[in-house]
Amino acid sequence: MADNRRILTGHRPTGPRHLGHLVGTLRTWANLQNDFQCFFLVADLHVMTTDYGHPERIRANTIGMLADWLAAGIDPQKSTLVLQSAVPEHAQLSLLLSMLTTVSRLERVPTYKEQVQALNLLPSLGLLTYPVLQAADILLYRADRVPVGEDQLPHLELTREVAHRFNQIYGLVFPEPQPILSQTPRLPGTENRTMHTSYGNAVFLKDTPEETTQKILGMYTDPTRIHASDPGHIENNPLFTYLDVFDPDAARVSDLKLRYQSGKVGDVAIKQHLAQMVNQDLAPLREKRAELITRPDDLVELVRAGTSLARQYARDTLTDVQDRMGLNLSATWRKHEPANDNTSMVGAFC
Ligand code: TRP
Repeated sequence: MADNRRILTGHRPTGPRHLGHLVGTLRTWANLQNDFQCFFLVADLHVMTTDYGHPERIRANTIGMLADWLAAGIDPQKSTLVLQSAVPEHAQLSLLLSMLTTVSRLERVPTYKEQVQALNLLPSLGLLTYPVLQAADILLYRADRVPVGEDQLPHLELTREVAHRFNQIYGLVFPEPQPILSQTPRLPGTENRTMHTSYGNAVFLKDTPEETTQKILGMYTDPTRIHASDPGHIENNPLFTYLDVFDPDAARVSDLKLRYQSGKVGDVAIKQHLAQMVNQDLAPLREKRAELITRPDDLVELVRAGTSLARQYARDTLTDVQDRMGLNLSATWRKHEPANDNTSMVGAFC
């Protein structure tokens, strides 16, 4: 390991991972594993902030997401997989940090304001404190760096504020974590909006080559082009954003762009070529995923092992925090407690 800096990042298990996740986050994570100690969090508690009514869906999505992560190169030999809900210290630290955070500060978080508008319902307390729980996720492992998309920057800013405030009052415990932003441009969805599981515009890692080809053949392209001989536009044309990512032959891509701009190649030919490139790129990942998903018990075992390792870090931080906040009567108090006093909260998981 090049240095001992630590990373924590995660996803909510909301559904299958798509090409946007692969290009924007998963490949970055896989590379970071070689240079950092990495914790990858399955943020299932965060799913509850908007979708607490479907327990079976969360479980199935968690297994599917783990298969996607591992197939994309997340390596449990190098990194630690953590199931958030199985480490009660996340909720405990979140409660303590919520004492240092004002309601008005949380009401100004842009993701919260957007969600409240989009959901058109009365926001729960849990939704309001979403960023405090995320701060707890990061600070519990004293992570220095957090690879995230731009949309998550306000949450990271809040995390730094809370860490700073805690350190000021109680002494230096937490690093103020910095983001690592993805270098690759966002992949648009098949109709050129942001790629999103719920928009019906995503190519999923678990899709078959045939499904992938169908989706790519139906993709949005230059709307001003009626005939293949019309000059085409490559700006704001997702076909070429994709080709830049998925065709490893840069010279061929430049040549295709020139021919497209001068009306010498049709959209269907570009799409067919693109589908072939995407399927070729995904073939090893899909083979691995298909194999992993037949052994869900092994996936559970991997995340269980990671979680029980992670919990040692989490306990250590929480104990330090409690001591500094005056929440134990003396350092010897803990010695008289039965060991693992809160295992009942965790059940048989770790
Ligand atoms: N809020 C993040 C998302 O929706 C998921 C998340 C939860 C997370 N806890 C985190 C990301 C901690 C980074 C660090 O994508």
